[in-house]
Amino acid sequence: MLTLKNIAKSFQQQTVLVDISLTASTGCLIHIAGPNGCGKSTLFKIITGLLKPDQGTIALAEGSILGALIENPQFLEYETALTNLRFLGDLNQRFNLERTQKLLQQFGLDLENRQRVSKYSVGMRQKLGIIQAVMEEQNIILLDEPTRGLDPESIQQFIQLLEKLKQEQKLVIVASHDEIPGLVYDRALVLRNGQLNDV
Ligand SMILES: Nc1ncnc2c1ncn2[C@@H]1O[C@H](COP(=O)(O)OP(=O)(O)OP(=O)(O)O)[C@@H](O)[C@H]1O
Ligand SMILES: [Mg+2]
Repeated sequence: MLTLKNIAKSFQQQTVLVDISLTASTGCLIHIAGPNGCGKSTLFKIITGLLKPDQGTIALAEGSILGALIENPQFLEYETALTNLRFLGDLNQRFNLERTQKLLQQFGLDLENRQRVSKYSVGMRQKLGIIQAVMEEQNIILLDEPTRGLDPESIQQFIQLLEKLKQEQKLVIVASHDEIPGLVYDRALVLRNGQLNDV
């Protein structure tokens, strides 16, 4: 469903990704660990097409829909959470009100649709970032440091969400420099010195 072959990427003099290959299939939850600056976000940017690799190929199964939370998600500050999500979903004509409201409710966000995103805390923004990555029933989901700013109860909600996505046969790849307590992965990888290896 997702195949990376011999991906390499350098920025000016700095080589970040040396030779990355990965074959990942549906219904699989993968973790990519690695310290700050090892290239986790860069790899996600390459998979989504935001950055072009210097070498290598990316293949997605036909009909794949990518969802991604990369670094700090940006929203329209003067609009509510739901308006922002509707805006993003409508761009792809994949907005589903019921599903989106359910996700907002799961994460304890404003269902009354009154609060502007400008009033949101770091953790609340992060939850919106998670929701936009999954609300369109995306089937390949990339989550970059998804639990940053989340309180323990929200981390539990997040873990439940990942379990559901797995049951729905989605492919989920989570990148984080540390362990997410309570989360069990099907496959654990580490990105180090530009190479991706099983732990
Ligand atoms: N557009 C860019 N131009 C130049 N250098 C970049 C660019 N993007 C990333 N880098 C460099 O590439 C390296 C990898 O960055 P990246 O953001 O992928 O790391 P990361 O593993 O996501 O780190 P973190 O855990 O801090 O989020 C860093 O040294 C960074 O400075
Ligand atoms: Mg990063």
